[in-house]
Amino acid sequence: VDHLIGIEHLTTRDIEIIFQTADRFKEVINRPIKKVPSLRDTTIANVFFENSTRTKLSFELAEKRLSADVVNFSASSSSVKKGETLVDTVNNILSMKVDMVVMRHPNPGAAKFLSERINAKVINAGDGTHEHPTQALLDAYSIREKLGEVKGKKVVIVGDILHSRVALSNIYALQKLGAEVMVCGPTTLIPKHIHELGVKVEHNLRKALEWCDVANMLRIQLERQDIQYFPSLREYTMLYGLDKKLLDSLSKKIVVMHPGPINRGVEITSDVADSKQSIILNQVENGVAIRMAVIYLLASKIER
Ligand code: CP
Repeated sequence: VDHLIGIEHLTTRDIEIIFQTADRFKEVINRPIKKVPSLRDTTIANVFFENSTRTKLSFELAEKRLSADVVNFSASSSSVKKGETLVDTVNNILSMKVDMVVMRHPNPGAAKFLSERINAKVINAGDGTHEHPTQALLDAYSIREKLGEVKGKKVVIVGDILHSRVALSNIYALQKLGAEVMVCGPTTLIPKHIHELGVKVEHNLRKALEWCDVANMLRIQLERQDIQYFPSLREYTMLYGLDKKLLDSLSKKIVVMHPGPINRGVEITSDVADSKQSIILNQVENGVAIRMAVIYLLASKIER
Protein backbone atom coordinates (compact mmCIF):
# COMPACT_ATOMS: atom_id res chain seq x y z
CA VAL A 1 0.00 0.00 0.00
CA ASP A 2 1.54 3.34 -1.11
CA HIS A 3 -0.99 5.64 0.61
CA LEU A 4 -3.63 5.13 3.30
CA ILE A 5 -6.82 6.25 1.57
CA GLY A 6 -9.27 3.81 3.15
CA ILE A 7 -9.69 0.47 4.88
CA GLU A 8 -11.57 -0.94 1.87
CA HIS A 9 -8.39 -1.86 0.03
CA LEU A 10 -6.34 -3.10 3.02
CA THR A 11 -5.94 -6.82 3.63
CA THR A 12 -6.45 -8.47 7.01
CA ARG A 13 -2.66 -9.01 7.10
CA ASP A 14 -2.06 -5.26 6.49
CA ILE A 15 -4.25 -4.46 9.51
CA GLU A 16 -2.51 -7.07 11.68
CA ILE A 17 0.91 -5.62 10.77
CA ILE A 18 -0.34 -2.12 11.72
CA PHE A 19 -1.58 -3.49 15.08
CA GLN A 20 1.69 -5.30 15.80
CA THR A 21 3.64 -2.12 14.99
CA ALA A 22 1.26 -0.07 17.16
CA ASP A 23 1.86 -2.51 20.06
CA ARG A 24 5.56 -1.62 19.94
CA PHE A 25 4.87 2.12 19.74
CA LYS A 26 2.36 1.94 22.60
CA GLU A 27 5.18 0.64 24.80
CA VAL A 28 7.39 3.52 23.64
CA ILE A 29 4.86 6.26 24.42
CA ASN A 30 4.32 4.88 27.91
CA ARG A 31 8.01 5.34 28.73
CA PRO A 32 9.31 8.54 30.40
CA ILE A 33 11.01 9.42 27.08
CA LYS A 34 8.20 8.98 24.60
CA LYS A 35 10.20 9.45 21.39
CA VAL A 36 12.07 7.29 18.90
CA PRO A 37 14.48 8.69 16.26
CA SER A 38 12.98 6.63 13.38
CA LEU A 39 11.70 9.50 11.19
CA ARG A 40 14.40 12.14 11.70
CA ASP A 41 14.74 12.31 7.89
CA THR A 42 10.99 12.76 7.21
CA THR A 43 8.86 15.91 6.96
CA ILE A 44 5.07 15.66 7.28
CA ALA A 45 2.36 18.23 6.55
CA ASN A 46 -0.97 17.98 8.34
CA VAL A 47 -3.41 19.63 5.94
CA PHE A 48 -6.86 20.19 7.44
CA PHE A 49 -9.73 21.60 5.37
CA GLU A 50 -12.25 20.64 8.09
CA ASN A 51 -12.30 21.05 11.86
CA SER A 52 -10.68 18.47 14.10
CA THR A 53 -9.47 18.08 17.68
CA ARG A 54 -8.52 14.41 18.18
CA THR A 55 -7.28 13.46 14.71
CA LYS A 56 -5.20 16.59 14.18
CA LEU A 57 -3.49 16.54 17.60
CA SER A 58 -3.06 12.78 17.53
CA PHE A 59 -1.32 12.85 14.13
CA GLU A 60 0.89 15.73 15.25
CA LEU A 61 1.91 13.91 18.45
CA ALA A 62 2.48 10.66 16.53
CA GLU A 63 4.75 12.48 14.06
CA LYS A 64 6.68 14.25 16.82
CA ARG A 65 7.12 11.01 18.78
CA LEU A 66 8.66 9.51 15.64
CA SER A 67 10.99 12.57 15.47
CA ALA A 68 9.59 13.78 12.12
CA ASP A 69 9.56 17.49 11.21
CA VAL A 70 5.95 18.68 11.23
CA VAL A 71 4.06 21.57 9.62
CA ASN A 72 0.38 22.23 10.24
CA PHE A 73 -1.98 23.79 7.71
CA SER A 74 -5.51 24.90 8.48
CA ALA A 75 -7.60 25.93 5.45
CA SER A 76 -9.64 28.44 7.44
CA SER A 77 -6.58 30.62 8.10
CA SER A 78 -4.83 30.02 4.74
CA SER A 79 -4.70 31.37 1.18
CA VAL A 80 -7.44 28.85 0.24
CA LYS A 81 -9.63 31.73 1.41
CA LYS A 82 -8.11 33.80 -1.44
CA GLY A 83 -9.09 31.17 -4.04
CA GLU A 84 -6.06 28.82 -4.15
CA THR A 85 -6.97 25.25 -5.21
CA LEU A 86 -6.34 22.05 -3.22
CA VAL A 87 -3.65 20.76 -5.61
CA ASP A 88 -1.90 24.16 -5.85
CA THR A 89 -1.98 24.46 -2.06
CA VAL A 90 -0.48 21.03 -1.49
CA ASN A 91 2.11 21.34 -4.29
CA ASN A 92 3.29 24.63 -2.74
CA ILE A 93 3.68 22.87 0.61
CA LEU A 94 5.50 19.95 -1.07
CA SER A 95 7.98 22.27 -2.77
CA MET A 96 9.30 22.96 0.73
CA LYS A 97 10.54 19.30 0.73
CA VAL A 98 7.64 17.56 2.45
CA ASP A 99 7.48 13.74 2.20
CA MET A 100 4.00 12.93 3.49
CA VAL A 101 0.62 14.67 3.65
CA VAL A 102 -2.06 13.89 6.23
CA MET A 103 -5.28 15.40 4.91
CA ARG A 104 -8.81 15.95 6.19
CA HIS A 105 -11.26 17.29 3.62
CA PRO A 106 -15.07 17.66 3.43
CA ASN A 107 -15.32 16.01 -0.03
CA PRO A 108 -15.54 12.21 -0.40
CA GLY A 109 -12.69 11.06 -2.65
CA ALA A 110 -10.45 14.06 -1.92
CA ALA A 111 -7.61 11.94 -0.48
CA LYS A 112 -7.52 9.61 -3.50
CA PHE A 113 -7.74 12.60 -5.85
CA LEU A 114 -4.73 14.17 -4.15
CA SER A 115 -2.72 10.93 -4.04
CA GLU A 116 -3.03 10.64 -7.85
CA ARG A 117 -1.73 14.17 -8.41
CA ILE A 118 1.17 14.72 -6.02
CA ASN A 119 4.56 13.19 -5.41
CA ALA A 120 4.20 12.34 -1.71
CA LYS A 121 2.54 9.75 0.52
CA VAL A 122 -1.04 10.62 1.45
CA ILE A 123 -2.88 9.58 4.62
CA ASN A 124 -6.61 10.19 4.68
CA ALA A 125 -7.61 11.79 8.00
CA GLY A 126 -11.29 11.77 6.95
CA ASP A 127 -12.77 12.62 3.53
CA GLY A 128 -16.36 13.79 3.85
CA THR A 129 -18.79 10.90 4.28
CA HIS A 130 -16.38 8.39 2.71
CA GLU A 131 -13.67 6.94 5.02
CA HIS A 132 -11.72 7.71 8.20
CA PRO A 133 -9.25 4.83 8.14
CA THR A 134 -7.09 5.65 11.16
CA GLN A 135 -10.25 6.05 13.30
CA ALA A 136 -11.41 2.55 12.33
CA LEU A 137 -7.93 1.15 13.01
CA LEU A 138 -7.80 2.71 16.49
CA ASP A 139 -11.37 1.56 17.18
CA ALA A 140 -10.66 -2.06 16.24
CA TYR A 141 -7.32 -1.91 18.10
CA SER A 142 -9.17 -0.70 21.22
CA ILE A 143 -11.65 -3.61 20.97
CA ARG A 144 -8.72 -6.03 20.61
CA GLU A 145 -7.07 -4.46 23.69
CA LYS A 146 -10.26 -4.61 25.79
CA LEU A 147 -11.66 -8.01 24.70
CA GLY A 148 -8.48 -9.88 23.65
CA GLU A 149 -9.46 -10.18 19.99
CA VAL A 150 -11.84 -8.74 17.41
CA LYS A 151 -12.62 -12.06 15.71
CA GLY A 152 -16.05 -13.39 16.65
CA LYS A 153 -17.11 -10.23 18.50
CA LYS A 154 -20.47 -8.61 17.82
CA VAL A 155 -20.25 -4.87 17.24
CA VAL A 156 -23.20 -2.54 16.72
CA ILE A 157 -22.66 0.93 15.25
CA VAL A 158 -25.51 3.16 16.39
CA GLY A 159 -26.70 6.42 14.85
CA ASP A 160 -26.06 8.44 11.73
CA ILE A 161 -24.67 5.68 9.51
CA LEU A 162 -25.66 7.56 6.34
CA HIS A 163 -23.27 10.47 6.86
CA SER A 164 -20.56 8.65 8.79
CA ARG A 165 -17.08 7.96 7.42
CA VAL A 166 -16.35 6.35 10.80
CA ALA A 167 -19.16 3.81 10.23
CA LEU A 168 -17.98 2.81 6.75
CA SER A 169 -14.32 2.43 7.75
CA ASN A 170 -15.34 0.52 10.90
CA ILE A 171 -17.52 -1.87 8.88
CA TYR A 172 -14.60 -2.69 6.55
CA ALA A 173 -12.05 -3.04 9.39
CA LEU A 174 -14.23 -5.09 11.73
CA GLN A 175 -15.35 -7.48 8.99
CA LYS A 176 -11.77 -7.99 7.76
CA LEU A 177 -10.82 -8.89 11.35
CA GLY A 178 -13.69 -11.40 11.66
CA ALA A 179 -16.24 -9.46 13.75
CA GLU A 180 -19.98 -9.49 13.10
CA VAL A 181 -21.29 -5.98 12.44
CA MET A 182 -24.77 -4.53 12.92
CA VAL A 183 -25.93 -0.98 12.27
CA CYS A 184 -28.77 0.57 14.26
CA GLY A 185 -30.64 3.84 13.74
CA PRO A 186 -33.71 5.42 12.18
CA THR A 187 -34.46 4.43 8.56
CA THR A 188 -33.62 7.97 7.44
CA LEU A 189 -30.04 7.61 8.71
CA ILE A 190 -29.28 4.11 7.36
CA PRO A 191 -28.08 3.90 3.71
CA LYS A 192 -30.57 1.93 1.55
CA HIS A 193 -27.94 -0.49 0.19
CA ILE A 194 -26.11 -1.15 3.47
CA HIS A 195 -27.08 -4.86 3.31
CA GLU A 196 -24.73 -5.21 0.36
CA LEU A 197 -21.83 -4.69 2.81
CA GLY A 198 -22.94 -7.78 4.75
CA VAL A 199 -24.04 -6.00 7.91
CA LYS A 200 -27.18 -6.65 9.97
CA VAL A 201 -29.68 -3.81 10.32
CA GLU A 202 -31.75 -3.25 13.48
CA HIS A 203 -34.00 -0.26 14.13
CA ASN A 204 -34.67 -1.09 17.80
CA LEU A 205 -31.83 0.09 20.06
CA ARG A 206 -32.59 -2.29 22.97
CA LYS A 207 -32.56 -5.33 20.64
CA ALA A 208 -29.30 -4.14 19.07
CA LEU A 209 -27.67 -3.67 22.49
CA GLU A 210 -28.87 -7.10 23.70
CA TRP A 211 -27.22 -8.64 20.61
CA CYS A 212 -23.83 -6.95 20.83
CA ASP A 213 -20.58 -7.18 22.81
CA VAL A 214 -19.60 -3.63 21.81
CA ALA A 215 -21.71 -0.56 20.98
CA ASN A 216 -20.08 2.27 19.02
CA MET A 217 -22.31 5.33 19.52
CA LEU A 218 -22.03 7.90 16.74
CA ARG A 219 -22.73 11.62 16.74
CA ILE A 220 -25.54 12.97 14.58
CA GLN A 221 -23.74 14.92 11.84
CA LEU A 222 -26.07 17.88 11.60
CA GLU A 223 -23.52 19.68 9.42
CA ARG A 224 -23.88 17.06 6.68
CA GLN A 225 -27.63 16.65 6.34
CA ASP A 226 -30.89 18.12 5.25
CA ILE A 227 -32.70 18.65 8.52
CA GLN A 228 -36.09 17.91 6.90
CA TYR A 229 -35.31 14.20 6.57
CA PHE A 230 -34.20 13.82 10.12
CA PRO A 231 -36.12 13.00 13.30
CA SER A 232 -35.83 15.87 15.78
CA LEU A 233 -32.94 15.64 18.24
CA ARG A 234 -35.47 15.07 21.05
CA GLU A 235 -37.01 12.16 19.15
CA TYR A 236 -33.57 10.80 18.30
CA THR A 237 -32.49 10.86 21.95
CA MET A 238 -35.71 9.16 23.08
CA LEU A 239 -35.33 6.33 20.54
CA TYR A 240 -31.55 5.99 20.08
CA GLY A 241 -29.89 7.73 23.03
CA LEU A 242 -27.96 5.45 25.40
CA ASP A 243 -28.50 6.26 29.08
CA LYS A 244 -27.37 4.46 32.26
CA LYS A 245 -30.81 2.98 32.92
CA LEU A 246 -30.81 1.24 29.52
CA LEU A 247 -27.15 0.19 29.85
CA ASP A 248 -27.70 -1.31 33.32
CA SER A 249 -30.87 -3.13 32.23
CA LEU A 250 -29.04 -5.21 29.60
CA SER A 251 -28.44 -8.89 30.30
CA LYS A 252 -24.63 -8.51 29.94
CA LYS A 253 -22.02 -5.77 30.39
CA ILE A 254 -21.24 -4.38 26.96
CA VAL A 255 -18.30 -2.17 25.98
CA VAL A 256 -19.28 1.40 25.02
CA MET A 257 -17.32 3.35 22.39
CA HIS A 258 -17.63 6.75 20.74
CA PRO A 259 -15.28 8.28 18.16
CA GLY A 260 -15.88 11.81 19.47
CA PRO A 261 -16.81 14.57 19.55
CA ILE A 262 -19.61 13.59 21.96
CA ASN A 263 -22.88 15.48 22.13
CA ARG A 264 -23.57 14.68 25.78
CA GLY A 265 -27.25 14.08 26.40
CA VAL A 266 -28.05 13.41 22.72
CA GLU A 267 -26.57 10.05 21.61
CA ILE A 268 -25.06 9.22 25.00
CA THR A 269 -25.51 10.53 28.55
CA SER A 270 -22.58 11.65 30.67
CA ASP A 271 -22.99 8.80 33.16
CA VAL A 272 -22.54 6.31 30.29
CA ALA A 273 -19.71 8.21 28.56
CA ASP A 274 -17.82 8.42 31.86
CA SER A 275 -18.72 4.92 33.11
CA LYS A 276 -16.40 1.93 33.63
CA GLN A 277 -17.93 0.31 30.53
CA SER A 278 -16.80 3.21 28.34
CA ILE A 279 -13.43 2.98 26.54
CA ILE A 280 -13.79 6.38 24.85
CA LEU A 281 -10.56 7.87 26.22
CA ASN A 282 -8.68 4.61 25.60
CA GLN A 283 -9.66 5.00 21.94
CA VAL A 284 -8.11 8.48 21.91
CA GLU A 285 -4.96 7.21 23.68
CA ASN A 286 -4.59 4.36 21.17
CA GLY A 287 -4.94 6.81 18.27
CA VAL A 288 -1.37 8.03 18.78
CA ALA A 289 0.18 4.53 18.64
CA ILE A 290 -1.95 3.56 15.63
CA ARG A 291 -0.99 6.73 13.75
CA MET A 292 2.69 6.24 14.63
CA ALA A 293 2.41 2.74 13.14
CA VAL A 294 0.71 3.92 9.94
CA ILE A 295 3.19 6.78 9.41
CA TYR A 296 6.20 4.57 10.19
CA LEU A 297 5.09 1.82 7.79
CA LEU A 298 4.35 4.27 4.95
CA ALA A 299 7.58 6.21 5.52
CA SER A 300 9.54 2.98 4.97
CA LYS A 301 8.29 3.10 1.36
CA ILE A 302 9.52 6.62 0.59
CA GLU A 303 12.16 6.54 -2.15
CA ARG A 304 15.02 8.80 -1.05
N1 CP B 1 -12.89 11.24 15.92
C1 CP B 1 -12.53 12.34 15.23
O1 CP B 1 -12.24 12.29 14.01
O2 CP B 1 -12.51 13.49 15.97
P1 CP B 1 -12.04 14.92 15.42
O3 CP B 1 -13.07 15.34 14.38
O4 CP B 1 -12.02 15.83 16.62
O5 CP B 1 -10.71 14.75 14.79
